[in-house]
This record gives sequence, structure tokens and C-alpha cells, in this order.
Amino acid sequence: MHILGIETSCDETAASVVTDGVKVRSSVIASSLADHVSYGGVVPELASRRQLEFIDGVVARGLKEAKLRLHDMDAVAVTKRPGLIGSLLVGLMFARTLAFALKKPLVEIDHIKAHLYANYLQFSSKKSKAPAISRLPAVGLVVSGGHSSLYYIKDFKNFKLIGSTRDDAAGEAFDKVAKILDLGYPGGPVIDRLSRQGRNDEIKFPVGLTAGYDFSFSGLKTAVLYYTQKHKTDPFFSRPKVAYAFQESVVAVLVQKALKAAHRMKVKTLIVGGGVAANSALRHVLRIQSQLQGLDVFFPSIELCQDNAAMIAGLGFHQLN
Ligand code: KG4
Ligand code: ZN
Repeated sequence: MHILGIETSCDETAASVVTDGVKVRSSVIASSLADHVSYGGVVPELASRRQLEFIDGVVARGLKEAKLRLHDMDAVAVTKRPGLIGSLLVGLMFARTLAFALKKPLVEIDHIKAHLYANYLQFSSKKSKAPAISRLPAVGLVVSGGHSSLYYIKDFKNFKLIGSTRDDAAGEAFDKVAKILDLGYPGGPVIDRLSRQGRNDEIKFPVGLTAGYDFSFSGLKTAVLYYTQKHKTDPFFSRPKVAYAFQESVVAVLVQKALKAAHRMKVKTLIVGGGVAANSALRHVLRIQSQLQGLDVFFPSIELCQDNAAMIAGLGFHQLN
């Protein structure tokens, strides 16, 4: 079964064809990120205007690269929530119209759950490390620009939210700390890179530990702000060191809560998704710690950590009926 996936929740316009929920035949992404950089964050109005321009061409390319036609599609899957309303509307209305005209079913997908599903996708061109689709139940950790959440996944129709952020999301914290350190937007990739040169034991920021499975990153962000305001003119002030100490705190809390959830829920599989799942320290520490706990941990490839439509089409296959 071929599903056309469409994703327009933030700055990206994406289309993909996925067969039987796992085989990615195409994954096309057009981003308007460059338009937002000078504003230090995504400007919703600019994002949705770009999406209106891009959507026809991106869907056409998605089909072309899959070597399939619109009429070969068995269903259309589209991101319904969460996201910027103007952006979501572009994709949703396009997909609803397409499904109506083709007389094919439409399935509307939660973007956050789809980030976790990205782990199960396979590219025929690449050697796949995707976990077997049967490896459920699992605990899922989503760390994106707008969300930090833990789920108990019984099957792909049953995601139970067990923890979420009380204030800033993990990605948001990376972006805000990058702003404090004048590193530009988006902050995650640059903090990840800079941290490698900033390893140190001198700076310690608080680990935002809340009770249960919820996350809180705003105290950590404020600690970085106060530290930077106090020390930025000192000769020893080092942005890589601050970036490293901040990243260490974020990773520590994500790892601790994810492992605790897996242990308490008695699952053997941990899956991670979302933009921050590309973080090299998180990948490294979580792999080591999971191994010690006898857990199998999976991350999507770096390209599938980003927003894409393959994860929408893939999860759409399981949620069709
Ligand atoms: O999942 P995503 O593409 O967007 C949402 O659905 O929100 O995530 C974007 C977020 C941004 O905050 C970005 O700074 C962060 O992911 N990010 C990273 C890395 N790459 C992207 N954070 C930490 N380390 C990275 N390597
Ligand atoms: Zn996302």
C-alpha cells in the first residue's frame, strides 16, 4: 500500500511516499529556514506564505522521485497537530482536497508521535538499522523544538503520554541558550558542535529534575543567562565551556527520565525522536546507559530526526482504520 505523506507544521514543506508503512520511496523537504534566521526564530506569517508557494512542487517531486503517480496512491496522510496554524492549514487543506478528488482515504496525524515512528522507516538505498516493527511495547522519548515528552507505546494506535515539559521544550532551551550566547538560530546544531571543544568540570548548571516524568528546562536556561551576564567580560569566559555545561545538564535529565520510564514500565525498547535526537551527546550517553540497563535504544538517522513527511506517511499506514 502506497501512502502519500504531507507535512507543513513549522518552517518545512515536505512530501513523501512510503510503502506498507516502512519503505521510504521518496522524502522531499523544502525549508524556509533561511528566511527566519535574521529574526532569531520562525516567523509564522513568512513560513505559511512559503508553504503556499512550495506545496504543489514538493508533492509533485515526492511522486516523481518515488516513480509513482497520484493515482497509484492508496491514501493520503497529513500532519494535523501540533504546529503553526497557518502552516498546518496549508498542508491540511491541500491533503483533504487531494484525498477528496482522488476518492482515497485521508488520515490526519499527530506530528509528535510521528517523530517516534521515524525509527521504523527504512530506505531501500541504505543499510537499515530500523528496529523490527514488532518491537513493542516501547517507551518513546520525543525531544523537538516545541515538545519534550515521554510516551508508553503499546502499539501504533495507542500512545500513552506519561510525561511532558512544564515550560520550555528541550529544543527551545537549545535555541534560547544559543541566543544568550550569540550563536544564531537554530541553536541545537551549533551548541552540539561547540560543546566538543568545551569539555570542562568547572561550570555546573542545575539539572532540572521534577518529580515523575515531566521535564523543566527554564531554570537551567535562566542559570545560563545569569552566568553569562555575570562573566561574559571576564578573560576566562568561554562560550564552548558554557555550551558544554548546558548540554550536559539537558542530556542528564533526558537520559535519567527515559531510563526510569523504561524500567518502571518494564519495556526492553527505548525509541527517541525529534530534532534534539540528532544531538551527539544525547545519542552517545543514552546508548551507553541503555546498554548498562539491558535496554535496546533506537534513534532515527540524523535526516529523519528533522521534520519530514516520511514519518507522517509511515504512521498513517498504521492509523488508517
Ligand atoms: O523536531 P524539530 O525539527 O521541530 C519541531 O517539531 O519542533 O526540532 C527542531 C529543534 C530545534 O530547537 C533545534 O535547535 C533542535 O531541534 N536541534 C538540535 C540539534 N539539531 C536540531 N538540538 C540539539 N542538538 C542537535 N544536534
Ligand atoms: Zn518536529
